[in-house]
Amino acid sequence: MQTNVGLLGYGTVGAGVAKIITMEEALLSQKVGWPLKLARAAVRDPSAARAFPPPPGLLTADPYEVVGNPDIQVVVEVMGGLEPARTLVLAALESGQHVVTANKALLAVHGLEIFETAARKGLEIFFEAAVAGAIPVIRTLKEGLAANRIQSVAGILNGTTNYILTSMTRGGATFGEALKDAQELGYAEADPTMDVEGTDAAHKLVLLTVLAYGVFPTLDDIRAEGITKLAPADFRFAEALGYVIKLLATAAENPGDGKLEVRLQPAMIPRGHLLAGVNGAMNAIMIRGHASGDIFLSGAGAGMMPTASAVVGDVVEIARLASSRTRTTKPSLGWHSLKAETVKPAGEIRSRHYLRFSVRDRPGVLAAIAGALARHGVSIAQVIQKEADPGTGHVHLVMLTHSAPEAGLRAALDDAASLESLLGPAMVIRVEEFAGG
Ligand code: NAP
Ligand code: HSE
Repeated sequence: MQTNVGLLGYGTVGAGVAKIITMEEALLSQKVGWPLKLARAAVRDPSAARAFPPPPGLLTADPYEVVGNPDIQVVVEVMGGLEPARTLVLAALESGQHVVTANKALLAVHGLEIFETAARKGLEIFFEAAVAGAIPVIRTLKEGLAANRIQSVAGILNGTTNYILTSMTRGGATFGEALKDAQELGYAEADPTMDVEGTDAAHKLVLLTVLAYGVFPTLDDIRAEGITKLAPADFRFAEALGYVIKLLATAAENPGDGKLEVRLQPAMIPRGHLLAGVNGAMNAIMIRGHASGDIFLSGAGAGMMPTASAVVGDVVEIARLASSRTRTTKPSLGWHSLKAETVKPAGEIRSRHYLRFSVRDRPGVLAAIAGALARHGVSIAQVIQKEADPGTGHVHLVMLTHSAPEAGLRAALDDAASLESLLGPAMVIRVEEFAGG
């Protein structure tokens, strides 16, 4: 017996998968019970130079030498993007092949159609590498914590942005230099705006939300913001206030109204919290279950080998399962039916916030801003104002608010925006309290 694997893509992740399958043949054979063999890999340009050169004849420019090939039982989609990935994954399932994918964009956007097709055909679709690289968070939510009502999931889900934020916190590289490093190390998406504007982490958050709560939000349901507006001053103030800035993804059931709150935003995290110490391209997820309590997972969130570790782990699991029966009844998302519930509108979610205004140092500025906040029910907890820059006469005025709905805060900032002393839009960063511990 032998399980043959076909790759769609032989870039950073595909080459890592090939490396593990070819170099760890004996180990994998012991884990599965028989050999895993790499049969074919489809790419755009088979003649291009490769980081891990493939065996002669492995590469093809025709993806249908992988999809629909009766000699290939498991198709690994690591090409990225929505098309042709969607068409090829659906065609693989329709032709009876199990699928492993690392493509969170594909699953966040077309997941319902893809998971429905897999269920109808009784086939496996595994996607451990799609969220948080090497960290087995999909299995943890789907299996290890299946007995729990999940109260919250909070995570650092993008290696590229965490790498950049770590550099900016430490005051080393500029944003541009840190992004270039992350690209060279193979962490970034083909289009790195997906990373820095938060879209990649939002895709992962969609998947964690459905695994944790059985609700499949659309990207439009999620408040998603990237890291491009953060300035060096915000990192200095965060440090002075005892916080670290992270791009934080959260999905939580509000204990008051029972509604689901899902968002992806830069957040100030207390310096002593476990998530605040997650640096570089590392990812981490904290899950709170009603019975389990807090579970903390951390590890490499991107890169060739960590991502390939998750992909090949899925291939091993499928090879084992596929030998024992012909048709799976196991739900790919951990729920036999999804709920119709929607997530709470972003404007209704309550948080504390850090606000930084650049102002002309004139009498009454502080009172005018405080007045606008008060008119919309936003209460101030702390104010910091340093001496004005002697050259420009400009100052940073920083406020920490008490908890307030985001809509009230935004309305107050719109009110304050017309103040003549204000030099630009306020910087707003949510302050995460991690209620209950
Ligand atoms: P990549 O380095 O850009 O590789 C993409 C591969 O797919 C290349 O081999 C490319 O062929 C091939 N490809 C792309 N479009 C194709 C098409 N239309 N037809 C045939 N082949 C095509 O990407 P990657 O970093 O490995 O990422 C792959 C997937 O894994 C993405 O969904 C990404 O989000 C996900 N992922 C990546 C990481 C990471 O750290 N990089 C981590 C987790 C998940 P050529 O080589 O000929 O151009
Ligand atoms: N671009 C992604 C990141 C790859 O930086 O985390 C891993 O999904």
